[in-house]
Amino acid sequence: MNINGRHYRTIWLKEDDKRVVQIINQLALPHRFEILDVRTAAGVQRAIKDMYVRGAGLIGAAAAFGMYLAALEAGDRSFEQDVLRAAEALKATRPTASNLAWAVNRMLARLTGCEAARLNAAEKRDAARRTAQAVADQDADYCKHIGMYGLDIIKAVAERKKARYGASAPPVHILTHCNAGWLAFVDYGSALSPVYAAFDAGINVHVWVDETRPRNQGANLTAWELCRHGAPHDLIPDNAGGHLMQRGLVDMVITGADRVTRRGDAVNKIGTYLKAVAAQENNVPFYVALPSSTFDFAMREGIEIPIEERDASEVRFVSGKTADGSIETVQICPDETPSRNWGFDVTPARYIRGFITERGVCDASEKGILSLYPEYAGALP
Ligand code: MRU
Repeated sequence: MNINGRHYRTIWLKEDDKRVVQIINQLALPHRFEILDVRTAAGVQRAIKDMYVRGAGLIGAAAAFGMYLAALEAGDRSFEQDVLRAAEALKATRPTASNLAWAVNRMLARLTGCEAARLNAAEKRDAARRTAQAVADQDADYCKHIGMYGLDIIKAVAERKKARYGASAPPVHILTHCNAGWLAFVDYGSALSPVYAAFDAGINVHVWVDETRPRNQGANLTAWELCRHGAPHDLIPDNAGGHLMQRGLVDMVITGADRVTRRGDAVNKIGTYLKAVAAQENNVPFYVALPSSTFDFAMREGIEIPIEERDASEVRFVSGKTADGSIETVQICPDETPSRNWGFDVTPARYIRGFITERGVCDASEKGILSLYPEYAGALP
């Protein structure tokens, strides 16, 4: 993604010191664009847990780079033990998205066991760097392909609208929830990748951006990304989607996902389920865009997915820019009011029109998913 004419990914190794991981600090957006250096595996754990980096694909890539830093820190003799300990700590940072454990396991497969036993410590560290980089490159590549497949869907809607309304056809209105753009991945994004591809192809698109309480990833991050890209959008309150669908102002919903089971139940940011129910009621197609690292082929039912419950203070307080440009946090409820803060919810497969993946589009069912990923047909424990 381009920021002020320069291409950035969300995470990379520092050009002149490959022992340093650099990240875009998402806690500072949209008001400040800031890059942070992370030098230790514990630093990566903190960056994930406190959401300096967030989003399913990006926390996977960050965990892979965290394992690389753990490999640099590990003792020559206690290498395996040390990286296993780091792996457990990284996996415990955020429990819901599959990408994180998937990436850590991919690193462990390279750094421990019989294959790795043939390498000396320096070779293992080198393998760790190359594998972490491969995880990041694959994430970006898969998201680019999601964009290409999603573009076909948007193009078909645009053509239908043109046939119906002629040259003055209104834009293709796409509603999205949370941030599943390039900030949630290494580059391109999942739900927003088709939007960028359509916009770049000259299709008249417009995005309804849910603010996404309580952390406001829509207002802070999705809106910021769309501004940088110049793509038309409007920020809306989380509860406006149903109203817009009733009025025919949403052509499709595209969200990302943090974990999708082999039967097609999708976990995504809290509030997604309500959008899916409203979409079904109003006959609006609801798509979920995801790379294959988000599928959990070993799990059948969405209800089994652990749902992260975050600190209640995220509901009770909001932060923003004041008129004088300073960033302030204010309390929005009575002092004595308790609150609860679930980060995600489950959208059952029956509400989902299709999955947009790096291998194409499929039905939200075990049969549909396995038609694209037949190698997982026997993956149940
Ligand atoms: O809590 P977050 O911001 O890490 O949530 C993850 C998300 O960004 C969303 O749920 C998103 O739609 C899926 S991740 C691409």
